[in-house]
Amino acid sequence: MTTKVAVIVGSLRKGSVNRQFAEALTKLARPKLDMQIVEIGELPLYDQDREAELPAAVVRFKQQIESADAVLFVTPEYNRTFSAALKNAIEWGSRPWGKNSWAGKPGAIVGATIGTVGTAAAQSQLRSVASVLGVSVMAQPEIYLNFRDDTLKDGAIADEGLHKLLQDWTHAFGDWIARVKAPALNF
Ligand code: FNR
Repeated sequence: MTTKVAVIVGSLRKGSVNRQFAEALTKLARPKLDMQIVEIGELPLYDQDREAELPAAVVRFKQQIESADAVLFVTPEYNRTFSAALKNAIEWGSRPWGKNSWAGKPGAIVGATIGTVGTAAAQSQLRSVASVLGVSVMAQPEIYLNFRDDTLKDGAIADEGLHKLLQDWTHAFGDWIARVKAPALNF
């Protein structure tokens, strides 16, 4: 059975290296993982006053998260943390009180930068926020991608070693999802 993963890319720009990375990872993960990018650019700025009547884009977003078996955050690093766009999506997903769409989801975090830090700071901060949301984040393996001009060729990972590393990562994530979603034993 295919496992459905909601992929949230923290960058909104068209040429985003994180979006390109997410798309390449999506191809690489098939058929075991059915990864679908869930758009966050249409979400309004979070406003608690709007919780009484959720905007249509928010309702759609929450349904997409809830219908997925797992979530994957693909995060850029902005000023040593993750993006405001991603935090905004996290806020909407977590509300209203008692309707947290993230709760109980298996999850993972990866990220790409054109710099050498490789999103380590952003991922670390996102990891602690994801735990508060009730997402069970895979601890290992970690992926901090230093994205270069030659990282992709025709939308696929060009380097054989990196391709293998990411393929192993998708297998580990698939196993992690199965473990977290396994029914509890009844004693
Ligand atoms: C950055 N960038 C960046 N890179 C990094 O390694 N550490 C950082 O703290 C920051 N800070 C930062 C702030 C802002 C506002 C921008 C726009 C950029 C560089 C960033 O990693 C680079 O632009 C990536 O290409 C952003 O990801 P996307 O948009 O290409 O997915």
